[in-house]
Amino acid sequence: MDIEYRLATPPFCESRIEELLELTGKVFGNTDAVDGPWRLRNMPDVTLLEARRDGKLVGFKIGYAITSTRYYSWLGGVDPDHRRLGIAGELMTRQHDWISRNGYASVETGVQQENLAMTRLNLASGFQVVGIRFKDLGPEITYQKRLSK
Ligand SMILES: CC(C)(COP(=O)(O)OP(=O)(O)OC[C@H]1O[C@@H](n2cnc3c(N)ncnc32)[C@H](O)[C@@H]1OP(=O)(O)O)[C@@H](O)C(=O)NCCC(=O)NCCS
Repeated sequence: MDIEYRLATPPFCESRIEELLELTGKVFGNTDAVDGPWRLRNMPDVTLLEARRDGKLVGFKIGYAITSTRYYSWLGGVDPDHRRLGIAGELMTRQHDWISRNGYASVETGVQQENLAMTRLNLASGFQVVGIRFKDLGPEITYQKRLSK
């Protein structure tokens, strides 16, 4: 299966945001809980890594800076019909490569405790557990990975 990977940076056009909302709806079951469009327009140094099959968005990973040296990998997902093909792993590799090349020393992320798939992927990718946050949906494990320049 041919998957094309792309990096998109701001400004994001409305059609790209709509496409992303459609996929987040499929992946998370809603589009209104996440303030994605606001973050895409307002957070610093936003990146959107996309995976496309025949032009259609099938996977994404969004991140942004939280300080001049720390980057936050906020949200990602893969279309249910395209899972276990290595798409999330490839998006993460490309995201970390971009973060490192752009001068950030570390990347952080948070995952709900029961999310086995993302937990396994994070640990296999070199993230370490650095904390826990209690959010509306339950405990979220915080991970950090130091990046080499
Ligand atoms: C988590 C998610 C992004 C993984 O996407 P994916 O493209 O299927 O993942 P990959 O194929 O790259 O898998 C990489 C590794 O993650 C782990 N993994 C992925 N899916 C898994 C599952 N269902 N159960 C257990 N481990 C899993 C495995 O270690 C896998 O490596 P392997 O296939 O060699 O065993 C996808 O399941 C998803 O969109 N889930 C819902 C949204 C979500 O949880 N997003 C993350 C929180 S923001």
